[in-house]
Amino acid sequence: MPLNAASARPIIVTPELPADISTGVTGSVLSASGLTLEAVGEILALATVLEREDPIQRAQRLAKRRIALLFYESSTRTRTSFELAAKGLGADTTLVSSLSSSIEKGETLKDTGLTLRALGAEAIILRHPSSGAPWLLERETQLPVLNAGDGMHEHPSQALLDLRTILAHLRPGVEAVTAETLAGLTVAITGDILHSRVARSNMILLPKLGARVILCGPRELLPELAAQAGPGVEIERNFTRALEQSQVVMMLRIQAERLAGLQLDLEEYKASYQLSEERLTKYAPKALVMHPGPIIRGLELTGEVADGPQSVILEQVHHGVAIRMALVYRALAGRTLTAGAQKGVRA
Ligand code: CP
Repeated sequence: MPLNAASARPIIVTPELPADISTGVTGSVLSASGLTLEAVGEILALATVLEREDPIQRAQRLAKRRIALLFYESSTRTRTSFELAAKGLGADTTLVSSLSSSIEKGETLKDTGLTLRALGAEAIILRHPSSGAPWLLERETQLPVLNAGDGMHEHPSQALLDLRTILAHLRPGVEAVTAETLAGLTVAITGDILHSRVARSNMILLPKLGARVILCGPRELLPELAAQAGPGVEIERNFTRALEQSQVVMMLRIQAERLAGLQLDLEEYKASYQLSEERLTKYAPKALVMHPGPIIRGLELTGEVADGPQSVILEQVHHGVAIRMALVYRALAGRTLTAGAQKGVRA
């Protein structure tokens, strides 16, 4: 079956959200675009300190502090690693998911957020299908919010853990990041760019450190407009040419849940864009292979590549815990448990 013409369906372009609409709550991480280089460096350094710390001491850092995980979409890696990160710092966590809470009965994000605050939550980790939901939650609750993925918009903690993985392999020993740290490095992000918040956060974050980002995929999943995402970002439709230029190859899942009627010929897609062992060996034999997960073996990449020596997919998952410890700690550091917060009312 041929690919449906992109013109048969309007391309949904997520509007850019300004980086400065924060309501002044400190400790939130809502987007990669809102992260300064200084903040990125602080998060990376904190992740290293916390990861190396004695677990008993680490568990004193946020002992008995309360953190809510509010997930309106399914997740394995992000939810589990945020939860393990918060627990590793000694915090109490609670998970609210859309399928087993009053969200099912129609409660709004605002009311759910205020309810969590009234229950004593001091920070909220939010995954939501709507772009911008973390900003709304921060504004309404005045709590620090960590964006765990908002619609097709951003997934900043994923980009930070991807960055930590890249640095560990390609810039070992780098302590302080600058606008030149990734100079000379080319990262090919390939697949369903249109629906990917991971791609968006990475194409914002990596060029801040000097990387060149090549976006690769068919027009249906990669509109020409994406080349305007920012400096350091370009489009290459030919996968072979993208592979030949790249030291990092980041593969993306086709997000069937967001395709909204767009039909793809998967065999044609695989013929053009699947990362196979043959392609990898021939065109990018030294490149790191990354994937935010979940991977669909046999579609965007083969099982051999996923399990092969160039794959750092599980390392990415591992780095997620340290990065999220840093984010959770930063969200609550400097904030004491006020009487107002204890009672669930605004201070
Ligand atoms: N990378 C990522 O966001 O994975 P999950 O959906 O499993 O959290």
